[in-house]
Amino acid sequence: MATLQERSAAVMPPMALHALPFGITHAQGSYLYTDDGRKLLDFGSGIAVNNLGHNYPTVVQAAKDQLDKMVHCCHNLFHYEVETALAERLVGLMGGGYKVYFSNSGAEAVEGAVKLAKYATERPAVIAFKGSFHGRTMMCTSLTASNSAYRKHYEGLVPSIYFAEYPKLFGTPYKMQDGACPKEYYTQFDDMFKHLIDPYSVAAILMEPVQGEGGYVVPPREWVQYVRELCDKYGIMLIFDEVQTGFGRTGNMFAWQTHGVKPDIMSCAKGIANGLPLSAVVGKSEIMDKWVAGAHGGTFGANPVSCAAALATIDALENGAIDNGRRMGEYFIGELKKLQEKYPCIGEVRGLGLMIGMELVYPDGSPNRELTNKIIALALERDLFLLACGCDKNVVRFIAPLTVKKEEIDTALGILYQAFEQAMDEA
Ligand SMILES: Cc1ncc(COP(=O)(O)O)c(C=O)c1O
Repeated sequence: MATLQERSAAVMPPMALHALPFGITHAQGSYLYTDDGRKLLDFGSGIAVNNLGHNYPTVVQAAKDQLDKMVHCCHNLFHYEVETALAERLVGLMGGGYKVYFSNSGAEAVEGAVKLAKYATERPAVIAFKGSFHGRTMMCTSLTASNSAYRKHYEGLVPSIYFAEYPKLFGTPYKMQDGACPKEYYTQFDDMFKHLIDPYSVAAILMEPVQGEGGYVVPPREWVQYVRELCDKYGIMLIFDEVQTGFGRTGNMFAWQTHGVKPDIMSCAKGIANGLPLSAVVGKSEIMDKWVAGAHGGTFGANPVSCAAALATIDALENGAIDNGRRMGEYFIGELKKLQEKYPCIGEVRGLGLMIGMELVYPDGSPNRELTNKIIALALERDLFLLACGCDKNVVRFIAPLTVKKEEIDTALGILYQAFEQAMDEA
């Protein structure tokens, strides 16, 4: 019988960086099983989706139960229990005072969040950040600045989007102030308001609270707080794109909790239903109330099966998975820092919770993409699946499930030590 690889002619080439020589037959917990008989430790989690690991039993059961009750009736037309219950749950997680609109993908949620900000403020402009990734629709492509490949041939993008610098302090061209964030990351907004766009024409500042695709960059808390103050000063909506950071990834349910800064609007997706497609725009009630009927919508949002899975996912996250993820994240970062002591090509190990990046550099500090690819390939040879990120694709990213066991992290660490040893031998 032909393998999945041999039958791939009908499928658009995957966006992934690696052309993998195998297909996946099934998955369970922290592992992927391949059609050539391998069992891979999955530290990619379907790109930060399977936060509870694959096929988490209570989530699968909730989805099965809902399949028997109702698959679709359309949330544009009716209220139904699982959508309402999930909205109530998310509002509770925000501490009250918010409303929820459900879509299917991360891009749709970001798109909805930005549309809401424009609608509510009746202002045209948006400030996003260099290094950002927000999705693949035309507006999300317009808001994305991690890699020009994502924008190539799509120019003529959505207008009135301005890009600010995100404070990536490792390798910053600016002078550090006694270890603190350089002032340029603060003053840039005044420069922007003076030269480019009046602050009262800005509908939203759109920020990933930890930059994902851009390299797992954790911004200083005080800077995030400063952006919040700036938004309050000018009536600008602060949107957090929590598509990747949400649902326990950074050690709390949401990264805004980790930063101690509440957004006006939040987009979330990925981990929300542990693998079923669902996303949400969560906005302060007074903002959401401005969206009149017809101003936004979509046939497939709030799929009942996905909503049921999301409720079970949130239960499991609250019942220990987030705590485990936080503990395992601290342990993993500590151990990766030991690896860094041995290999100076590891420029920085950074992250929050189990959203961890390891930036690889040449001796002069420039990005080492080649070594990044090599380490990922050597790890895969040893049955550990990893992904890269970063604007220069020189960051190994570790997105283990929050349910990961210490022994699994130790296995991954053992593989990484071997991979670095081999890479150095062959250098
Ligand atoms: C921060 C962020 N926003 C938005 C998206 C887009 O999500 P989706 O691929 O579900 O449209 C992603 C996907 O990687 C993301 O990381």
